[in-house]
Amino acid sequence: MWYTVSIELFVGRKYELEFLTKYLKPAPAPTRSVGFIVGPSGIGKTALVRKTLSIIEDNIITLYLPLVRSYRDGLDALKHLASMLSEELSRYKGLLSKFREILLRVIKGFEAKIGPITIGSIVYDRETTPLVVFQDLLEELNNDLLKSDLHAVVVVDELQNMLTGEWSPWSLVKFFSMLQEYGRLRVVLVSSDYVFVKKIMDRVPSSYIQIFYLGEMSWEDSIELSLELTRLYDVVVDRESVEEAIELIGGYPSMIYDLFYQASLYGDFKRELERIRDKALMDVYSALNYLVSNGIIDYREVYKLLNELSTNPIYIKDIIGKPSITRAIEYLVSKNILQYGCRDFLGVYKWNKDVTGGLCSLELVAPPSRLYLNVLKDIVKEL
Ligand SMILES: Nc1ncnc2c1ncn2[C@@H]1O[C@H](COP(=O)(O)OP(=O)(O)O)[C@@H](O)[C@H]1O
Ligand SMILES: [Mg+2]
Repeated sequence: MWYTVSIELFVGRKYELEFLTKYLKPAPAPTRSVGFIVGPSGIGKTALVRKTLSIIEDNIITLYLPLVRSYRDGLDALKHLASMLSEELSRYKGLLSKFREILLRVIKGFEAKIGPITIGSIVYDRETTPLVVFQDLLEELNNDLLKSDLHAVVVVDELQNMLTGEWSPWSLVKFFSMLQEYGRLRVVLVSSDYVFVKKIMDRVPSSYIQIFYLGEMSWEDSIELSLELTRLYDVVVDRESVEEAIELIGGYPSMIYDLFYQASLYGDFKRELERIRDKALMDVYSALNYLVSNGIIDYREVYKLLNELSTNPIYIKDIIGKPSITRAIEYLVSKNILQYGCRDFLGVYKWNKDVTGGLCSLELVAPPSRLYLNVLKDIVKEL
């Protein structure tokens, strides 16, 4: 298996699961808008998508492609895609066996393109980019679907790993949009890479993209996850300390996992919590240091920015025409010290209740988690 996310233990996200089980369906009529599921790295996008797919895959054809690393060239991408698709095959039994045949044919066709490296004998060579290979694959699949009566949903996790060198956001989205207009495929892209997502949002007409943002888990679900992990990792800790920890780090599943896993290895819950906090503090300080020492933003402006962010998010419309603030924010987002998010599902300043994610337009900037919010507050006090 190439997955790194286990869905055996999956907590909460009830409304998001409900929403996505409907959303991840082949469109009843051709739609041009391409779906994006975004949120900070570790918030639980992959887990949520995989859980959704495991619920719907009995009656909907889904193709899940986790692009967990970047690809050197087209051949590298081709080999990885072929093996990924071969693994997917085992899922298509019974009613879905027609799709299995299609996939098998596509894979065979692709494998034939990986010939011995002699000039003229192969279709793809090292000059072919991963994206071209990937797009050929989807076109091939679409052609076969058109010949059958089948519809499918393709979910691509971390598509930016296919992008090398210069790439055009508009042609990228246009490509997926055109595929969807044949009415057989629905494409949903999952990404933690805000530089990638922002570039798309800035250059692509908004009617061509639809963004689903995932925010922090609710307090109740975070506590439940923590208690499950206490048992799973055999960690000795009382309820009060668990609540204190969640209040500090927030509803951020990857960090909750990290805390319990480390505590199980080293046996000291409080110390591991401190370690997580110290690391975040160091990350923020070194990023601020970079910004100030490179003259991107001055000390006074940094203070103002952090002061504001430590109490409320900043709306993107309010920083238009402020280049130094914009550049500082872009840098901090690229370092995962800030995120783009949506007011209704953020969960960082105010705990999310039942609904922790949904369609919106990424209109604001905020710390990626409560941990970073708490660290910002401490820094502001000290400055
Ligand atoms: N709802 C959940 N219940 C239990 N574990 C979760 C949940 N969401 C995420 N996790 C776990 O948290 C970690 C990070 O989640 P992941 O889905 O990889 O985040 P992302 O894809 O947003 O970077 C993974 O180990 C995952 O299994
Ligand atoms: Mg992921």
